[in-house]
Amino acid sequence: MTRITLALAAALALATGAALAAPKSYAVPEPTAELRAPKAGMHAEGFEAAQANCLVCHSVDYIAMQPPGKGAAFWESEVTKMVKVYHAPIDAAQAKAIAAYLADTY
Ligand code: HEC
Repeated sequence: MTRITLALAAALALATGAALAAPKSYAVPEPTAELRAPKAGMHAEGFEAAQANCLVCHSVDYIAMQPPGKGAAFWESEVTKMVKVYHAPIDAAQAKAIAAYLADTY
């Protein structure tokens, strides 16, 4: 008798568990996967080089989350850091163009 009661209780618990496990849906945040377009008619080379080189290791968020208006010196040293410290394979001319684009756009 006790055994049957236990079995029934277990079956009931399972059924209740299944009913509670209704499908859930989550709202995922908007992806911020794209670099900002450069100002009209400017920095085409830097923008292209940044698209090709700056999203290889990490998302654009690392760039976008920097405080706005940091200026040329900051972005030059950021790009230099990516090349020297993290070995991003970016040549000097591209690095310069990328830094100019970022300084003027972020
Ligand atoms: C070879 C891989 C690699 C490439 C390519 C790369 N980065 Fe990074 N980047 C990193 C790593 C690693 C970090 C540090 C992550 C951490 O500290 O959590 C980083 C961090 C950053 C940060 C956050 C601030 C900081 O200094 O940690 C910025 C801004 C940034 N990268 C910009 C760029 C830009 C601009 C480019 C293109 C010129 C670029 N990255 C290309 C590897 C790379």
